[in-house]
Amino acid sequence: SIERRVNELLGRMTLEEKVGQLNLVSHGPPLRWEDISEGKAGALLNFNSAQDVARAQALARQSRLKIPPLFGLDVLHGFRTQFPLPLGEAAAFSPRLSRLAAEWAAREASYVGVNWTFAPMADLSRDSRWGRIVEGFGEDPVLGAALTAARVEGFRDGGLAASTKHFAGYGAPQGGRDYDTTYIPRAEMYDTYLPPFRAAAEAGSASFMAAFNALNGEPSTANGWLLTDVLRGQWGFTGFVTSDWVGIGELVNHGIAADGAEAARKAILAGVDMDMMGQLYIKHLPDEVRAGRVPESVVDEAVRRVLRTKFHMGLFDRPDIDPSRLDSAFPTPESREAARAVARETFVLLQNRGDVLPVPASARSIAVIGPLADAPQDQLGPHAARGHKEDSVTIVEGIRRRAQGSGITVRHAPACDLLCRDASGLQAALEAARQSDFVIAVFGEPQELSGEAASRADLALNGKQAEVLEELARTGKPIALVLMGGRPQVLGPVAERIPAILMAWYPGTEAGPAVADVLFGDVSPSGKLPLTWPRSTGQLPLYYNRLPTGRPTLPNNRFTLQYIDEAITPLYPFGWGLSYTNFAYSGAALAKAQLSEGEALEVSVNVTNTGARDGQEVVQLYIRDPVASRSRPLRQLKAFEKIALKAGETKRVTLRVPVESLGFHLDDGTLLVEAGAIQVFVGGSSLAEQVGEAEIAQTFRIPPMGRR
Ligand code: IFM
Repeated sequence: SIERRVNELLGRMTLEEKVGQLNLVSHGPPLRWEDISEGKAGALLNFNSAQDVARAQALARQSRLKIPPLFGLDVLHGFRTQFPLPLGEAAAFSPRLSRLAAEWAAREASYVGVNWTFAPMADLSRDSRWGRIVEGFGEDPVLGAALTAARVEGFRDGGLAASTKHFAGYGAPQGGRDYDTTYIPRAEMYDTYLPPFRAAAEAGSASFMAAFNALNGEPSTANGWLLTDVLRGQWGFTGFVTSDWVGIGELVNHGIAADGAEAARKAILAGVDMDMMGQLYIKHLPDEVRAGRVPESVVDEAVRRVLRTKFHMGLFDRPDIDPSRLDSAFPTPESREAARAVARETFVLLQNRGDVLPVPASARSIAVIGPLADAPQDQLGPHAARGHKEDSVTIVEGIRRRAQGSGITVRHAPACDLLCRDASGLQAALEAARQSDFVIAVFGEPQELSGEAASRADLALNGKQAEVLEELARTGKPIALVLMGGRPQVLGPVAERIPAILMAWYPGTEAGPAVADVLFGDVSPSGKLPLTWPRSTGQLPLYYNRLPTGRPTLPNNRFTLQYIDEAITPLYPFGWGLSYTNFAYSGAALAKAQLSEGEALEVSVNVTNTGARDGQEVVQLYIRDPVASRSRPLRQLKAFEKIALKAGETKRVTLRVPVESLGFHLDDGTLLVEAGAIQVFVGGSSLAEQVGEAEIAQTFRIPPMGRR
C-alpha cells in the first residue's frame, strides 16, 4: 500500500534528505542543477518546458533515493491555450465549464511535464480594489465552493495535482491592499471564507498554499489554527501545505520571528510542510532538530505528506517526460473551440437599453474603437502561463471574421493607448464612428492594472476613457461598450451615456470569436455577476450577503444606512446579467414546508423563455433567516442551476438545499441550525422575489468534526 511504501522510504532517509523533500525551488538562481541530484530539491517550480523537466528528472534519478520531483507552476486559466480568468469563469455559473477549462489547462501543462498547479485560488473577495480578485470566483461562498471543487477535479482529470490557495483570508486585506492584514471573526471564516477551501479538500486537492497575510494578527504561514486545527483536525486533510514565495522568511517582517531559524521553526510547527523559495528549511531545520527545538517526528510527518502525494500521483511509477515535446502542440482546433465555448458564457450583459445589442442585421458598417480591441497580450489577462499573444484572435479580428461572411465593412481605430493617457487618436476614431452604422467600443483595464500587486485606490475607468466614450456617444450612433478587465470598474456617467455594456473580463486566446458570437446574437449572453458592482470606489467593500442593521435605509431619513454623497445601492447587484431574451418565473412551490435534520429544502419553479431567441438562465435560490440568535445576512445564495431554454420553452427546475446548509457557524466551528422560519427567494439575480417560507422544526448542532 501507499502508506507502507511511504514509511519504507522515509526509514531510509537521512535528515538532510528529508529536509530536501521540503524544499521548493524555482528554475534559475538560487537553484543549482546539482541540488537535484544531491536530493536537496524535492519540488521545483517554473519548469515549464519538457526539456528542462526531463533534465531535472534525469538528475533526480541520479540521486541516492531517486525520488521524483514535483513540477509546480501557476497554471490558472490555461497553459498555452488561454481560457477566461477565473473571475470571468465564475460569471458562467457553470461547474461543468470550470471543470472543462481546468482539464484543458492541465492537459496542456502535463503534456510538457508540469504535474502540479498553484491553483485554484479559493479566496473570496468583497473588495474589487484588491488586484487578485481576478484570480478567484468573486464574493460568494456557495458559488466559490462549487467552482473551486470543479476546478480541482478538472485539473486532476487533465493530469495536474492542485494546490489550493491562499489559505486563508487573503482576499479580505484592509483597504484592498495586496498582502495587508486581515481581520475576520472565526464564525465568519467558517461561514464565508473557508467553504471554498473545504470544498477543495473534499474534492481531493493534493496540497494547499498558506497565504502571505496575517489573519487576526497571526500570519497564515505560522497559523496553527488554520493549518493544523481546521485543515487537518476538522477536515481530515492528508495532503501537504506549501508556503507562498518566501512566505516563511516574511515571518520576520511580520514581526513574529527574530530570524530565519525561528521563522522555519514556527512555520513547520504550525503545519507548513514545504518552503517555497525561502531555503530556510534546508538551511535551518537539521540544526533545529539536532538542538531539540523541532521534534524529528514533525519533520517526518511533513515528509510523509509530501511522499504520500507523490505516490498518489503515481510519480514513482511513471516514465520521464519526452524532452522533444513542445507546448506549441497547442492550441489545437479543439482547445480553441473549448476556450471559445467557455468564454462566450462568461460575458455579462450589464445593460442593454433600447435593445441596442445584438448588432442589427441592418448595420452594414461597424466601427470598432478602443485599444483593447486589438490587444493580443492583454486579452489573455494576468498569469497566462505559456500563453502566446501570437495565438490570440483579437476582438477586432473576431468581429472582422464574423462580419466578412455578411458583407459588413469594419473600421478599427484605437483612439488611445492601452492606459488611455494619450488620446491623440480620438479624431480618427470619431471619423470612423461617423462613417459607420454601429459603434463597438472596447475599453477597460489593460492587464498591467490587474492581478497580484495591482491593487487600485480608484476604480474609475483609467486614463481618458470616459472622455473618449462621451465623444463617441455624442456622434449619435448606436453604440455598445465591451468592457475588459479583472474587476468591476467605476463607470460614472458612462453608464448613462452608453446604452449597452457587455462585461467581457479577460476572455483569453479566443476572445475575438467569442465576443463576436455574442455581439452578433449567434449566442445570447448568459453570464451573471459573481460579485457586486459598485457605483463608486468609496462603497467598497461591498457585497450582497451583508447583515441587516438597526437602521435600514429610509430615503427620507438621514439617520439610516446611507451615504450623503452616493447611493447606497450598487450599480449592478450580485447575480445580475441580461440576455437577448427574457425569462419569467412562475409556479414556485416548496416540496415540504416543515424541515427536520437530514432533510432538504426543495423548491421547484417554472422558468419560461418569453422572448423570441434561445437563451440560458441561471436560476438562483436565496434564503434569509429573519430571526436567529445571531444577526443573519439579508440574502444568501444557497443553490443555482444554469438551464438552456429555446424561445417560448418552459422548464420546471428543482433546487435542493440540505437543511444543515441553512444554519450558521459558531466561533469554534460548530454548525448551528436553529428552529424557525427561513424565507426563500428564487429568481435570476440577488434581487429575486420571495417565493415562500420553510420552517425548521428543531434546533440541532453539528460539531466541527461531525461532517467528516
Ligand atoms: O502561486 C503563486 C502565488 O499565488 C503568489 N506568489 C508566487 C506563487 C508561485 O508563483
